[in-house]
Amino acid sequence: MTHHVGITALGTAIPATSLRLDELAALRGANPDKYRLGLGCDSMSLADPGTTAVDLATTAAQRAIRHWGGDVDQIGFIAVGTESALDMSRPLSAWVADRLGLQGHVRSYEVKHACYGGTLALRQAVEWIGSGAARGKVALVIAADIALYAPEHPGEPTQGAGAVAMIVGEPRVARVIPASYPYSEPAFDFWRPTGEPFPRVQGKLSLDCYKRAAESCFRAWAEDSEAPFNLEATTALCFHVPFPKMVKKAFLHVGEQLGWPEELATHTFDTKVAPTMTWNREIGNSYTASLWVSVASALRGVDPGTRLAAFSYGSGCGAELLLLEAGPEARASAWATDMDADLAGRHFLDIPAYEALRADA
Ligand code: CAA
Repeated sequence: MTHHVGITALGTAIPATSLRLDELAALRGANPDKYRLGLGCDSMSLADPGTTAVDLATTAAQRAIRHWGGDVDQIGFIAVGTESALDMSRPLSAWVADRLGLQGHVRSYEVKHACYGGTLALRQAVEWIGSGAARGKVALVIAADIALYAPEHPGEPTQGAGAVAMIVGEPRVARVIPASYPYSEPAFDFWRPTGEPFPRVQGKLSLDCYKRAAESCFRAWAEDSEAPFNLEATTALCFHVPFPKMVKKAFLHVGEQLGWPEELATHTFDTKVAPTMTWNREIGNSYTASLWVSVASALRGVDPGTRLAAFSYGSGCGAELLLLEAGPEARASAWATDMDADLAGRHFLDIPAYEALRADA
């Protein structure tokens, strides 16, 4: 496999509607500190009625293509990681390809593995190019989701929505290191049976699975004598963010299991992990996109060669720790301008408007 494949351009999209967690706390009679401090969430993005994962995925893809500057004819692969599929047979990629005018000699499919689907799609794209099968074409990978729980479910304050699209080819934004550290274990921690609108969740089990997967992946990295760089050499450690406190719990668990001094683990969390979740705190859990929102934030404005780690987790459960190295276009971070504008332009629902939105769903 070639060692010089990665993210050529990034595009992000979030819906225009949002809800502050303080409003939700008032509606549910919860202490706002439980949401803000206990879970680490400030607000959530919410899709308006009629807005689907296809809309978010298409906008993110259009932006990634614009920042890339190439033509859709140069795309030979489109894969969408999602758990907000519209159909059990037709892949979400077909809707997006239709809107982009992408057809012909193109491999097009959807990847499902809960929140891990987008990362799998990215790995497959990198490996497709590395195998030589791409023959000069680039890949378009999209992670897009709308995360909603049943009203009053404990997961409700962790809802969110968003999409991240990546043109995969030359590593202008970030190189994806070929070595990675996967982990899987069959589990029913979070799942959505066919035909049901909201997920079923074993909350405590889901936390334990996430922590166990993180421990296993970080241990494999620490024990890999051929790893291109280690944790100390990274500037940012990005995680799948169901809610920011989950990431803190998992990171401190990893530190404890790997024997890091407590002070070092806390300092590393404060300096290398917490800063990557600024956008996640505003957007909420965007499932497959959540890790890539964190990566997009961490890559913002960094120097070429800056090293990152990205831990992907999907219920069911599957996980993978990826290593990335920033490329020359990370410094300009074209995608961040879109995200800043999207966040600044959001309108916030009041309680009756949120109730009406949920009643319509
Ligand atoms: N001030 C400050 N903190 C407070 C507080 C207050 N007034 N009241 C409560 N808290 C704290 C609690 O002490 C707790 O912190 P610790 O865990 O550090 O003790 C925190 O707030 C949360 O409180 P609870 O544990 O009581 O929360 P809950 O049981 O109501 O909900 C949850 C937690 C079960 C995880 C729920 O959010 C949920 O079901 N989420 C969906 C599942 C999920 O996200 N799982 C994560 C791993 S699976 C995954 O990653 C896939 C995915 O994307 C879904």
